[in-house]
Amino acid sequence: MMKLTLGDLTALKQQRQKITMITAYDAPSARLADAAGIDAILVGDSAAMTVFGYDQTTAITLDDMLLLARAARRGTTRALLVADMPFGSVQVSDAETVANAVRFVKEAGVDAVKIEGAGAMTRRIAAVIDAGIAVVGHIGLTPQSANQLGGYKPQGRTADAAAQLLKDAAALESAGCVAVVLEAIPPLVAAAITRSLAIPTIGIGAGVECDGQVLVWHDMLGLSTSVDGALKLPKFVKQYAELGNEIVKAVQAYIADVQAGRFPEPRHTYAMPDEERARFEKARQDLSATKP
Ligand code: KIV
Repeated sequence: MMKLTLGDLTALKQQRQKITMITAYDAPSARLADAAGIDAILVGDSAAMTVFGYDQTTAITLDDMLLLARAARRGTTRALLVADMPFGSVQVSDAETVANAVRFVKEAGVDAVKIEGAGAMTRRIAAVIDAGIAVVGHIGLTPQSANQLGGYKPQGRTADAAAQLLKDAAALESAGCVAVVLEAIPPLVAAAITRSLAIPTIGIGAGVECDGQVLVWHDMLGLSTSVDGALKLPKFVKQYAELGNEIVKAVQAYIADVQAGRFPEPRHTYAMPDEERARFEKARQDLSATKP
């Protein structure tokens, strides 16, 4: 299986072939996504919620992300691997941001990092690119700034905000980003951005005219639960399976088997050769005979 390159993403856009991306946070899920033929795996900081159970992405640390990215790397053969730089790892200075991005490349072998934001962040993104590390941009609803955006709300719904997104996307392309994620913006705005850029756009809640789409693993497979255990999905998610229900059923069947003595069966156990059984029986008898 030939590993995809970042250049393949632009080639896919030029050929008008859609790019597929999904999040994954460990080796088995990355392996499954890769086997399914996904183009890119994103170790998203959505792991703060999906894996670590926090209620916002800002809680996840650089070390948490590196651990997940290393695991996903081991499961990824063909797809591109992109990792989110978490909140705190890009806020302090250009030098610290570059040093943190270098860790993703050296320790987790990612093909690119994803950095949220534009405006003042564009210069910092350029610093990472200047250091030789590929960057995927992310504009629209940027969850790391959800507080400043007034919550997890769609963006770019006024003419001014939409025009600003168009400018931000152009600035990210000029800075050298290899692609840009567009999250929760009107399809009309995403389509205009997509047409205006040579680099691909990857949409999530941004309509069908983006060059590609990304979904969160747990959301699309029915594994996302809120703190109280209820399924909670954003409007833009299409759920392709109900694996959460399947898992609950499987664990319930296991509990019932154990409680009823139906598991393990002889085929789940290890036999002892006959002569060893006889010797063991003798040893057991000798031991009980010497007991005071
Ligand atoms: O963290 C994440 O999973 C993301 C995607 C929603 C694009 O940033």
